[in-house]
Amino acid sequence: MHRKLAAFATAAALAGGALVATPALAQFAKAEDAIDYRQSAFTVMANHMGRLSAMAKGEKPFDAAAAQASAQLIATMSKLPWEAFTPGSDGGFANVKGDPWKNAADFKSLQDRLMGETAKLPESAGSLETLRKQLGATGASCKACHDKYRAQ
Ligand code: HEC
Repeated sequence: MHRKLAAFATAAALAGGALVATPALAQFAKAEDAIDYRQSAFTVMANHMGRLSAMAKGEKPFDAAAAQASAQLIATMSKLPWEAFTPGSDGGFANVKGDPWKNAADFKSLQDRLMGETAKLPESAGSLETLRKQLGATGASCKACHDKYRAQ
């Protein structure tokens, strides 16, 4: 099954790359590996969002260096999950709803929205006031996608 998919991806790539997402299949031997990879990226991203959020809410003292480090990590991590949404990786321990594969353009626009917001996080981390604002915009971009595509 997976070997067939990989062969198909190669054929599609050779045929002119009409299916843009398929070459990513080769990065993951099994659907479970892809699910693990994207959930891990989300987990790390969420951990650092939590650290920033604790500062924003005043539960932890504002530490500009730590905020900057978390903001950078979030910006990097937010680029990672998407190649791991390989076709057919909606079973097992995946918590996906709303068929992001069928709604690929919409799913992609929500990824772009997130990456647009996370790219602004590092420069916002210099003061608590700007961090609060950008953290809010980033969190809203997480929620916009989760409401549609993350099953709970
Ligand atoms: C474009 C859509 C999209 C955006 C944007 C998005 N997520 Fe998610 N997220 C998902 C989907 C889909 C899942 C379920 C993945 C799965 O289980 O395979 C998920 C799962 C998660 C999980 C659970 C991971 C696990 O171990 O099961 C966490 C935590 C998470 N997201 C945090 C975030 C945070 C924090 C942000 C914003 C900084 C964010 N996500 C932005 C789509 C998105």
